[in-house]
Amino acid sequence: MAGGAAEWDAAAYHRLAKPQEEWARQVLERLPLSGAETVLDAGCGSGGVTRLLLEKLPEGRVVGVDGSEAMIEAARENLQPYADRVDLRVADLLKLQVEEPVDAVFSNATFHWVPDHDLLFKRLRAAMKEGAPLVAQCGGIGNVAEFAAAIEAASHLPEFAPTFEGWPTPYNFAGPKETEARLAAAGFAEARCWLEEKLVQPEEPRAFGAAAGLAPHLERLPDDQRETFIDAVMDRLEQPISYRYVRLNIDARAS
Ligand SMILES: C[S@@+](CC[C@H](N)C(=O)[O-])C[C@H]1O[C@@H](n2cnc3c(N)ncnc32)[C@H](O)[C@@H]1O
Repeated sequence: MAGGAAEWDAAAYHRLAKPQEEWARQVLERLPLSGAETVLDAGCGSGGVTRLLLEKLPEGRVVGVDGSEAMIEAARENLQPYADRVDLRVADLLKLQVEEPVDAVFSNATFHWVPDHDLLFKRLRAAMKEGAPLVAQCGGIGNVAEFAAAIEAASHLPEFAPTFEGWPTPYNFAGPKETEARLAAAGFAEARCWLEEKLVQPEEPRAFGAAAGLAPHLERLPDDQRETFIDAVMDRLEQPISYRYVRLNIDARAS
């Protein structure tokens, strides 16, 4: 784990996060690329989406940064065929440093896990060339509201309350207007942000919810309470379980 970022079950995430990968394909369409750029994948996870980015950069490179050692280890394995064009690093995005400014920043399903968006955008801006595009999608205001409420309720059960007492919720679901203002303050121009709803009805709703949305909670819990915590969350969701995602899209340019 780097800084405040949690550890993830990288194998489960890689197997189950197919909706996130599908959304990333659409987000990548918005990224203007000639194919020879160096692009930062901010929160690259297990590399499933990084591979899609690398395919758009036949003569370019990707710097993949993630706070989870397990995710970066999985990404190294999954991106073996691209090893000469990808540089994978364990680092907290809030402490991001690159040797050379990059030509573009891409990020999928990550920014809502980062508690301080003002600092995040400043760190990203400092890592970019002037005029470089930032194209991203993450959870926005209202994201997985029923799931978040079930997690909150389960966290207050007597057996779990001591673990979570005083612990701030790990989600940072921001709105479009506040994000545009933050981007402008961090040195971005042409900032445009908007919300988009997505409904997910996974084949394995329990495993999916745990792998995609519970990593920071599960990391805090003792081993013998993890499965019962997942059960407590799932029991509080309407059956059959579906996840109502609200994505925050971000397009901006480093000024
Ligand atoms: C849901 S995964 C998304 C992975 C990948 N981008 C995708 O679309 O499949 C979120 C990732 O953000 C990473 N992350 C969360 N907070 C972070 C931080 N502060 N610094 C770096 N990575 C972070 C997590 O470790 C995790 O791999």
